[in-house]
Amino acid sequence: MTEPSPTSSPHGLFVSFEGGDGAGKSTQARLLGAWLRGLGREVVLTREPGGTDLGVQLRDAVLHGDHVDARTEALLYATDRAHHVASVVRPALARGAVVVTDRYLDSSVAYQGSGRDLGADEVERLSMWAVDGLLPALTVLLDLDPVAGRARLTGEPDRLERAGDEFHRRTRAAFLTRASADPGRWLVLDATRPVDDLAEAIRARVTALGDVPSGRSLA
Ligand code: TYD
Repeated sequence: MTEPSPTSSPHGLFVSFEGGDGAGKSTQARLLGAWLRGLGREVVLTREPGGTDLGVQLRDAVLHGDHVDARTEALLYATDRAHHVASVVRPALARGAVVVTDRYLDSSVAYQGSGRDLGADEVERLSMWAVDGLLPALTVLLDLDPVAGRARLTGEPDRLERAGDEFHRRTRAAFLTRASADPGRWLVLDATRPVDDLAEAIRARVTALGDVPSGRSLA
């Protein structure tokens, strides 16, 4: 029998990357995407917020607009995500593509639920409603001390990056708690490891998924 590999899967595969700012999510998403393309898979590389035209406007409003209260912020991310899932993620999974997203609903649970103190359970319910229950088959957490992450950033900090060390410590802790509660979905990696090591660990885990369904639906 041949080893199951990402090429053998007729199904879509949904993978998300999570972690603090500066953890290297986009680099690893890009490397995973390139590897999967090399195996002959269609890959859709995308991001939240801002994976659609409407999302680009919402991203600008939430990251660079005027102050908004925490609930408004949570709803802006949820709106971006609902439209992203309905118009990009689900159609791609339905045609058998691999969708690799730089952030997904776990960011809302960590940043708005714990960082902003809205409550992880409530924000999770809001997010799950927005996406009609679609969870990734794999979520990679690139874990990094927020102070180290900030040192890696370039350019003007956005609204979330300006939220302060305590906010970012709560967010990091929330990601780790969430990951340890569902090890079947999560892969937690120390983001200070060399880029190539991280990429290899991620490829190994994706390979181990074998012939996986497009995502896990709790709906
Ligand atoms: P990101 O695109 O990762 O930032 P950058 O382009 O600077 O790397 O995400 C933008 C910010 O939005 C980031 O600080 C995390 C935050 N965020 C939330 O607070 N909630 C969410 O649901 C998402 C998706 C992102």
